[in-house]
Amino acid sequence: MKGKSTEIIASGYRGDSSKLERYHSINPPVYHASTILFEDYAELKTVGQGQYEGFTYGTDGSPTQHAFERAMTELEGGYCTKAFPSGLLAITSTLQAFLQHGDHLLICNSCYGPVRRFARDMLDKFGITTSYFPANVGADIEDYITPQTRFILLESPGSNTFELQDVPAVVKVARQHDILTAIDNTWATPLNFRPLEHGVDISIHSVTKYISGHSDVLLGSATINEACYKPFHRMCRALEIFASQDACYLALRGLKTLKVRLKQHEVSALELAGWLEGEAAVEAVLHPALVSHPEHHIWRRDFDGASGIFSFVLKPEFDEDAVGRFVDSLEHFGIGYSWGGFKSLVTAGKFAQSDISRYKDRWMIRLNVGLEDVADLRADVQMALSKL
Ligand SMILES: Cc1ncc(COP(=O)(O)O)c(C=O)c1O
Repeated sequence: MKGKSTEIIASGYRGDSSKLERYHSINPPVYHASTILFEDYAELKTVGQGQYEGFTYGTDGSPTQHAFERAMTELEGGYCTKAFPSGLLAITSTLQAFLQHGDHLLICNSCYGPVRRFARDMLDKFGITTSYFPANVGADIEDYITPQTRFILLESPGSNTFELQDVPAVVKVARQHDILTAIDNTWATPLNFRPLEHGVDISIHSVTKYISGHSDVLLGSATINEACYKPFHRMCRALEIFASQDACYLALRGLKTLKVRLKQHEVSALELAGWLEGEAAVEAVLHPALVSHPEHHIWRRDFDGASGIFSFVLKPEFDEDAVGRFVDSLEHFGIGYSWGGFKSLVTAGKFAQSDISRYKDRWMIRLNVGLEDVADLRADVQMALSKL
């Protein structure tokens, strides 16, 4: 007779070897595993010989992770995708894959802030230098390229200030110099902009945002073209990059409803943005889909839609106390970071990291427009403006 502990370990899940246990759920199962079992010694031996084609260990990912990665590859029109534990890790790991000592990196001036910290505190100590280009750059990217420039990191629209780069123009110049390009495509999602179709080599997402959509997942992804495969794959193996299975499951589920959610975010945000343009306290609304946006023609040319996050700049007479009163009196907007989720959120700060100097040091408010009824959101913002 077996001992109780042995019985417990042998009980329950026995794989899907029997037809009776086969279970074709519509979504993939989530496998929680570090150890993957082999059939026999012969199979184990093929692993050692580098000839085994299946999963060998938890860090290889799982069928759930691969299903999510496959979906992203199809949507982005890429060669392959890797899921990362967060959007920031997708960016920083990708940079590590392609840069080495002596290289120069160019980053968009309105990039997601922590990318600057990574360049300053990590890349710099490995002898990789970084400089920043205006967030509305086009063919004039040429002026920022040095003989050491190897990589250009775009983010269009850029964080908080929402300037657009002329991506095809930047790519054309980059290719002439044999420089790789990557873009943070989080704002647009692959539904509204497909960078690889415009010649960008790598498209990166904070899946944390619209794709997962419910503010309860941290995940990133990078989709590459075929030419980038070798160095990218080498980095993924060396760092043993893998993402949480639960996060991949939720992200894949989020993808299925992305289109309808995103449309509602777009419609509600545009209604609020357009109305805010006429409000007396507001100096400017920064939203690429508004005709008043300086790069609106680029958005019209390259994008299939907009998402639900934008900022507005207050008139100079309003100070930090006024901003605090505005933020604290909102009822439907949570005060918190991140975006792309169902709940509306607000953040505020001084205008920074931008080349639009006319707003420098002015107070700016960023709204992540969620899925609440837009009439309620508008009444809320109107009430909060009256407290300024
Ligand atoms: C534009 C952009 N890219 C990347 C990130 C980083 O994503 P994560 O929070 O998944 O690390 C963020 C996060 O706010 C972001 O706004």
